[in-house]
Amino acid sequence: MDTPRKWLPTGKPWSSSKPATSWRAASATWTCDAIDAAFAEGRIAEEERYAQVEEELTDAYLAYREPWRQSAKAGDEAEWRWARELILDALPGAGGTFLDVGCANGYLMECAQRWGRERGLRLEPYGVDISWRLTSLARRRLPHWTDRIYEGNIVSWIPPRPFDLVNTGLDYVPPGRRRELVQHILRDVLAPGGRLVLRPERYREGVPTPADQLEELGFDPQGVIEARHPTNGEIRTTAWLAAP
Ligand SMILES: C[S@@+](CC[C@H](N)C(=O)[O-])C[C@H]1O[C@@H](n2cnc3c(N)ncnc32)[C@H](O)[C@@H]1O
Repeated sequence: MDTPRKWLPTGKPWSSSKPATSWRAASATWTCDAIDAAFAEGRIAEEERYAQVEEELTDAYLAYREPWRQSAKAGDEAEWRWARELILDALPGAGGTFLDVGCANGYLMECAQRWGRERGLRLEPYGVDISWRLTSLARRRLPHWTDRIYEGNIVSWIPPRPFDLVNTGLDYVPPGRRRELVQHILRDVLAPGGRLVLRPERYREGVPTPADQLEELGFDPQGVIEARHPTNGEIRTTAWLAAP
C-alpha cells in the first residue's frame, strides 16, 4: 500500500473524480458489509472488524481532494448541504454543543457552525472518529479546534463533556451492537434533554428509513426530519431521540 497517499489528502490517484467516486463508494460499502459478515460469522474478532473498516473507509476518503468527499459524501457542495443541513433541525433550542460522531476530516463540524450561523443558531462543534489518520487530518485542517477533535470508538468512548446534539451513524458498529450504541449515546454522551440524530439518508421506497431503523432497535423516535433536494426533488430523511 502506498502509505504517503494515505497521508496526503490532496493526492488524487484518479484522473477524473467521477468514475473514482462511484467505484470507491460502491467498493467501500461492499467491503464493509463483507467485514461485518466476517465478524457475524466469527471469522474475525471485533477489534479486527473496526481496524478493517477503518482501513477501507479512510483509504477511500483520502483519495479525494474535495472536503465533503473526504467526509464520505459524493456529489457537489449543494448536494452535501442538502444531505446534511437537516441535522440542525434536531437542535434543542437556539444553540449549544454539537458532536459529530465519525467526524472524518471535520468538514461537517465547520459546515454545521456556518449553516447554524445563517439561521441565527450558535453552535459549538466537536468531533470524534475511530481513525487516527482522519482525526489528524481534521486537526490539521482545523487548528483552532484541535482540542475538540478526539480519537475514539464511539461504542465505548467516554466524552470529556456532555453534548446538546449528537450526529451518528448506526453502521459505525456491527448490527448486534447498535442498540447498545444508541443507549450509550443517550446515557453517557448527551446532556439532559440533548438529542441524538442519525446521519440522514436518501429516501428510497421499501428501504428502512433512519426512523424505521431506530424502531427496529426498540426506540420510539421523537422527531422525523425531511429535506427536499433543491433541483431534483429527492428526499433526505432522518430521525432524532431525546436523552432523558
Ligand atoms: C460516513 S463518514 C461520516 C462523516 C460525517 N460525520 C457525516 O455525518 O457526514 C463515517 C466516519 O465514521 C468513522 N467511524 C466509523 N466507525 C466508527 C466508530 N465505531 N467510532 C467512531 N468513528 C467511527 C469513520 O472513520 C468515518 O470517518
